[in-house]
Amino acid sequence: MKSVKVTVFGKVLISGEHSVVYGEPALVASIDKRMEIELVEFKGYRLVSEVEDGAGLVRRALALGGVDPNGVKVKIWSEIPSGMGSSAAVSAGVIKAAYKWQGKKLGRQKWHELAWKAERLVHGNSSGVDPAAVIFGGLLWYVRGREIGKLKLKKPYRMVLVETGKPAESTGEMVSFVAERMKIYDLRFKKIVTELGKVSMKIREVMRKRGEIKDLMNENGVLLEELGVVGEKAIKISEKLRSMGWGVKITGAGGVKAGSGRLVVVGAELKTIRRMGYEAFEVKVGGDG
Ligand code: PMV
Repeated sequence: MKSVKVTVFGKVLISGEHSVVYGEPALVASIDKRMEIELVEFKGYRLVSEVEDGAGLVRRALALGGVDPNGVKVKIWSEIPSGMGSSAAVSAGVIKAAYKWQGKKLGRQKWHELAWKAERLVHGNSSGVDPAAVIFGGLLWYVRGREIGKLKLKKPYRMVLVETGKPAESTGEMVSFVAERMKIYDLRFKKIVTELGKVSMKIREVMRKRGEIKDLMNENGVLLEELGVVGEKAIKISEKLRSMGWGVKITGAGGVKAGSGRLVVVGAELKTIRRMGYEAFEVKVGGDG
């Protein structure tokens, strides 16, 4: 029976979430957590039950990839934690698999264009940064619609990701939430977004020299708190971790009603953070540039 398999990786946003939607630069890295996607021929069967495909992302990605969603069965195995690029990985992975299925080549620019289109179904006004990380890999500099560049580091950074609880809001809802606030508090919010862009640029310069980014990550984290995308619980945890001398910010869209997703922490040892009672894991950033 005909089948094809594709492997893609998750991502961590180092800097630029939300401000990247408004044209400011972002720094993003792929992480060593994989998703495998397999397309298998699906003819002559009768569908008895189906696992829910949320917003229909798999079907949309298949269609964008040029494959009839009724002709194939899609199997997905994933170790990508939620909020770390899962929907971008599904979008990009299914599209790549669809091209492979048809024996067609797919260049990275076109691949990004299609995966970004698919991802908009679940993220609304997405900046395209997540699919860029999944497709181009390594440590990336991303400006919406303008630039995707690789950053090469001599030695990777180790960052610890700390769980603050699953957000009640989706990424799309958080993007709309910021858009609403931008409309109401126009100048104040535009200033925060511009400041976030400046911090991303500074982080890039320091990372290039493999310097210390703790203070800049804190600056970034506090700006995201001011933007209103971080909930009380996550702010409290961030303050506690900052008091230990580490650099802390949320990574990703955040959330305010329940948890805010994960914090990215620089300068800390994973075991120390775990000993403090937090659920955490470590990622290597910029090691493959
Ligand atoms: O997918 P998340 O939750 O890591 O967030 C992506 C970053 C946002 O700026 C919030 C949205 C986007 O498309 O840029």
